[in-house]
Amino acid sequence: MGTWIINGSVPVRGQNRLEKKHLLIEDGKIAAIRDDAAEGAPDTSGHETIDAAGKLVSAGFIDMHVHLREPGFEYKETIATGTRSAARGGYTTIACMPNTRPVIDKVETVNYVLDKAETEGIVRVLPYGCITKNQLGRELTDFSALKEAGVVGFTDDGVGVQSAQMMKDAMALAASMNMTVIAHCEDNTLVEGGAFTDGEFARKNGLKGIPNESEAIHVGRDILLAEATGVHYHVCHVSAEQSVRLIRHGKQFGIKVTSEVCPHHLLLSDEDIPGMDANWKMNPPLRTPKDVEAVIAGLEDGTIDIIVTDHAPHSEEEKARGVQMAPFGIVGFETAFPLLYTKFVRTGRWTLEFLLDRMTSKPAELFGLPWGVLEVGREADLTLVDLETEKAVDPAQFLSKGRNTPFTGWKLFGWPSLTMVAGKTVWSE
Ligand code: DOR
Ligand code: ZN
Ligand code: ZN
Repeated sequence: MGTWIINGSVPVRGQNRLEKKHLLIEDGKIAAIRDDAAEGAPDTSGHETIDAAGKLVSAGFIDMHVHLREPGFEYKETIATGTRSAARGGYTTIACMPNTRPVIDKVETVNYVLDKAETEGIVRVLPYGCITKNQLGRELTDFSALKEAGVVGFTDDGVGVQSAQMMKDAMALAASMNMTVIAHCEDNTLVEGGAFTDGEFARKNGLKGIPNESEAIHVGRDILLAEATGVHYHVCHVSAEQSVRLIRHGKQFGIKVTSEVCPHHLLLSDEDIPGMDANWKMNPPLRTPKDVEAVIAGLEDGTIDIIVTDHAPHSEEEKARGVQMAPFGIVGFETAFPLLYTKFVRTGRWTLEFLLDRMTSKPAELFGLPWGVLEVGREADLTLVDLETEKAVDPAQFLSKGRNTPFTGWKLFGWPSLTMVAGKTVWSE
């Protein structure tokens, strides 16, 4: 027995319109995609059916930058809660950052995360391994052992690798084993204690700002090192206009640099920050309106390749410590698609296909993953989305343990209604 997902709406490549299709799922795979106009409704007898009338049917979303907090910070999030939050957001594959406690710098910790994901997770979890032991920037981890254990790339996300020589060594080693280096770009000597960007909001409030150069200096440095070593270098959460320029330049030179951007950096600037509220504090910080325009333009011209959430849950107690003391980060899974769909697709700036590609096929392509495409023969990782019901963001309903979002109360369209991994419904409304 298989499952027919009937009457769903599927984007037609290059045509900015949806077409009614019926999908047969068998043995966890997409066994058939039937065109309603040409072939009519299928005979569903003997099969389970899911009626997707009025719903978008997409390949499941892929998020290559998330924090699941396990092991060590289970009060913020666990693999169980984080993957449920991801599933509610329409994600079927997520790649988790290694700044846990202990950090993911050893085979045992990779195995721990993979075992937990297998037993308690409900979507696919791909761990990253650290570049340096304990993320201290002093000594490389055992890349080949970590690769063997199953990491999808190397990163010290949460902190920047301060030493150029250390980064160069990491890149040379990663290149020799065909692995990607993923970088949180931040020069610590230029940051020192700021919570918000060096812009209007910091000036008005007499705060020390985080300058754009603290990010862009690493981006520029690392692109030169990527050129020298030939590694695939991926820039995390691009926020500054200067970074976009440097990446664009690097790509023009044929250097293997790719990058990602988060919904909040596409939608909010420091001038939107309502006051001293730590739900608006994340790293990198919300930049100026000029930077927001630059990252949007960068995504649109292909300088920035993919969209990620940087889902970073923290407890309410931590976020209530005041803006200076509160940790950086906001949750992202359960608002990402509705935000971008409402603000960029419904407004007519992007096609739905443009947005979906950057959340499905492009991340898969960048990291060599077999998912992210709606096609016969592929594993049935799918997301159904209600494009027509408007609902307000309500953190009380999040499946994440984190409630830390600046988007509370935003009225949005495009809410996922069912998520399927390998043919199995893992979450539905
Ligand atoms: O906002 C952030 N939160 N940025 C980071 O780089 C780390 C992350 C976290 O782990 O909370
Ligand atoms: Zn980061
Ligand atoms: Zn991160």
